[in-house]
Amino acid sequence: MSGETVKLQLGGLEVELPILVGTEGERVIEIDKLRAMTGYITLDDGYANTGSTTSEITYLDGEKGILRYRGYPIEEIAERCDFTETAYLLIYGELPTAEELETFRKSIRARSLLHEGMKTIFAGFPPDAHPMAILSAVVGALAIYCRDSLDPADPRQREVAIFRMLAKMPTIAAFSYKQSIGQPFIYSQNKLSYCQNFLQMMFAVPSERYEPDPDFVHALNLLLILHADHGQNCSTSTVRMVGSSTVNLFSSVSAGICALWGALHGGANEACINMLEAIHADNDNLGKYIDLAKDPNDDYRLMGFGHRVYKNYDPRAKIIKEVCHGLLEKHSREDPIFELAQELEEVALSDPYFIERRLYPNVDFYSGIIYKIIGIPKQMFTVLFALGRLPGWIAHWREMHLAPGGMRIHRPRQLYTGSAQRKFVPLIKR
Ligand code: ACO
Repeated sequence: MSGETVKLQLGGLEVELPILVGTEGERVIEIDKLRAMTGYITLDDGYANTGSTTSEITYLDGEKGILRYRGYPIEEIAERCDFTETAYLLIYGELPTAEELETFRKSIRARSLLHEGMKTIFAGFPPDAHPMAILSAVVGALAIYCRDSLDPADPRQREVAIFRMLAKMPTIAAFSYKQSIGQPFIYSQNKLSYCQNFLQMMFAVPSERYEPDPDFVHALNLLLILHADHGQNCSTSTVRMVGSSTVNLFSSVSAGICALWGALHGGANEACINMLEAIHADNDNLGKYIDLAKDPNDDYRLMGFGHRVYKNYDPRAKIIKEVCHGLLEKHSREDPIFELAQELEEVALSDPYFIERRLYPNVDFYSGIIYKIIGIPKQMFTVLFALGRLPGWIAHWREMHLAPGGMRIHRPRQLYTGSAQRKFVPLIKR
């Protein structure tokens, strides 16, 4: 608390509300007593101007294009950490020592198998089921199979749930893909790193030896790191909201996966590649699609463009674009979709509509192109986003449970605008 207050006059009342100041100088007005003091609540459609919590995990400045995990710039984390190390940092707040990191890795590795009974769940899904629907269903089912780690108030159960979640999510993701293409499930291998292991569960077959391409492992590692946390985004807020009822981690993450699936959030990476392919198939007619995106009478939007918080180039998109370049060059490939994406970016960024609204490419604009190079099918793109965002979801869920003042159920209010009280009309008279 800064000790400063703001005075608010409402009708004949004058109340003083505390001002809180964040580490980076952000100033917020605390309003949790406003209703008790005045009878008023605040209304903020889409939470554009509402902080739902304090958090020590991620700092982002959308005006300047800054993103930091636990104080470390994303550019440095992306260059110097691997995904598991990043997960540790986000969840526990500090970079691990070599020993802490090894123990953490072991705790995850040891839990990557699924209960054999869970294979029947996959078998029951139709082959064309979307893997995000499978992922959320099977992660939800972990609450049935892992009943000794459901109590978030028990420190040991909480820790075991975290290890299990990190360990089993790649297995569930890869099994959902294998099921969709009719191939046998490939079990995890403890000697491999997190990303190597995921690629081998996705692409190995029992009849052949599989060596994951080190460039692909590197690129995947980087993409997962860049997606690992992003403050109170839609899916993370969902995990916090659902978790605030004190339900277990698996159910909270399952809800987060559903929130991520939508095209305005994580589903944008799949939607973005679909958009680029559609433009390419339409003779690369960029102008037509830019005009559609600008048309106030048309709902069409450029997927992978714009962000609620970033009003500058998304720092993650910058890194991903460079990796795209590197991968394509190294593998001597020309990708018309990447060429088109760059051209679209250039045209949009010099168009007054996008300049005035400060719409820049976001993390989803180029990530799909890298997934494509790695060989990940389009339907799996958002699943990869979920794998990356998992440490963030866990970190927020844990932070909420360990909050010094205790945890409160999340329960927003509303302004009722429906009918006033009216007389009931019996069915026969309607
Ligand atoms: N294409 C065209 N116009 C856009 C776009 C876009 N991608 N994004 C925003 N706009 C326009 C809106 O039409 C609006 O114009 P107006 O002021 O004339 O009405 C203005 O920019 C502001 O847009 P809002 O929808 O109010 O911005 P909001 O912060 O609510 O939405 C969002 C942010 C959802 C990301 C939006 O930019 C969008 O739909 N982008 C495309 C989907 C996408 O890429 N999502 C991924 C986001 S990143 C992530 O979740 C990982």
